[in-house]
Amino acid sequence: MFMSALYRSHALLGRESSAELDMIEEIRSANRQNHVTGYLHREADVYYQWIEGPTQSIETLLVKLQSDPRHTSFTLIGKSKSSVRRFPNWLMGYSTSGEGALLEWATRNNLSLRILDPAMMVSFFQNQAA
Ligand SMILES: Cc1cc2nc3c(=O)[nH]c(=O)nc-3n(C[C@H](O)[C@H](O)[C@H](O)COP(=O)(O)O)c2cc1C
Repeated sequence: MFMSALYRSHALLGRESSAELDMIEEIRSANRQNHVTGYLHREADVYYQWIEGPTQSIETLLVKLQSDPRHTSFTLIGKSKSSVRRFPNWLMGYSTSGEGALLEWATRNNLSLRILDPAMMVSFFQNQAA
């Protein structure tokens, strides 16, 4: 079984700044070691991240994430167990956009942003990754 989690937080690094791009490289090499995969999307100054992997890796990562000074206002949206990975080929997919990409996508798909459903965010991420 794998564990997955979805959260949102407020970014404190500049969007696509060298600090943020370095962080993505750091994340991917840590994830390779810890068998974690997932997707990180930054919309204006909000991060949405899906992480999945062995339960212990995800539990440990969730604790680290909550005290990482590169973002703030960490809010867990959902956590669940699954027998399959949603992003098996992504050590950590990453995309950024200004205000609007997520909203436009939700409007196009007749979805409300008031309810940030994990399944909905997974399909948004898959759409971003395509
Ligand atoms: C938005 C954001 C996403 C992150 N995603 C991951 C991740 O997927 N995997 C990971 O190992 N660390 C991630 N980190 C970094 C962790 O918070 C932490 O710095 C990292 O696990 C190294 O911790 P350590 O030095 O205590 O081992 C992320 C940090 C931020 C700000």
